[in-house]
Amino acid sequence: MRLAVFNQSGGVGKTSLTRDLGYELALRGQRVLLIDADPQGTLGSFLGLEPATRARADTFWAAVCDGDDAPPVVHATAFDLTLGLANRFLIGDELALMQQNDPARLLAVVETHLNAYDWVLFDCPPKISEITVQILLAVEGLLAPVQTEAKAVESFAEVQLEIAKAQRRRKHMRLAPLRVLGVVPTLYNPRLVLHRHHYAELMRRIGPSFGYPVFAPIRDYVAVSEAGTRRQPLRRYAPKCPAAADVAALATALLGNAEVNR
Ligand SMILES: Nc1ncnc2c1ncn2[C@@H]1O[C@H](COP(=O)(O)OP(=O)(O)O)[C@@H](O)[C@H]1O
Ligand SMILES: [Mg+2]
Repeated sequence: MRLAVFNQSGGVGKTSLTRDLGYELALRGQRVLLIDADPQGTLGSFLGLEPATRARADTFWAAVCDGDDAPPVVHATAFDLTLGLANRFLIGDELALMQQNDPARLLAVVETHLNAYDWVLFDCPPKISEITVQILLAVEGLLAPVQTEAKAVESFAEVQLEIAKAQRRRKHMRLAPLRVLGVVPTLYNPRLVLHRHHYAELMRRIGPSFGYPVFAPIRDYVAVSEAGTRRQPLRRYAPKCPAAADVAALATALLGNAEVNR
């Protein structure tokens, strides 16, 4: 299953969720590839691969952009995960990709070269761009992390707009519709009345209006941030952190979803 972890807002927990969900899936024996699509390279640094120091040829996107049919470069991590890196070179590569005017270029690369994985998770950048457009054509499904904050709940309409655009492009290109597996409430503090209120709003507004499942939330614990600075998945850094149990429950739900594992 190829999945986009998508929300065009920054700071909603996409990169942390990609890291920790990927790790949970790998712990369950799944072959997992995580692809960083943010020039800031946060996913790579969260997992200790220090993308900022890497040459362009060492990033996933070089091969996608160059289009010479060479497989994209991926790196093994210490955590049974494989990673496709991004760094500042993605900014130039994205411009070059735009000029090539081939929105299905990434799709061609993943279909040719990435069939050995059970899961390919794309950590989307915090903006709408050529890369996001290509990712939403190259994946089969989407998970949308959303904070349990007023602004985040309201701005879900913008997320939905991008999903609708992607659906139109896919239809035009005769691709199967994108499967929105669901919304993942993130950075949730159940002790805060406001968070409980906004979580209820997510369930009330997003579930029925758009027909998307709303998963159980990932709780807000400082260990999630600390795991990033310690360059480890949350479960490795703080196995007993309740947020790790939340991500584990999400992994179990995804693996148990017959539609996902069709
Ligand atoms: N469940 C959580 N609990 C506490 N902090 C979190 C949680 N999820 C993410 N964070 C922190 O919030 C910030 C933004 O998270 P990140 O995963 O980088 O979001 P995005 O990729 O959407 O920008 C980071 O500092 C991260 O450590
Ligand atoms: Mg990020």
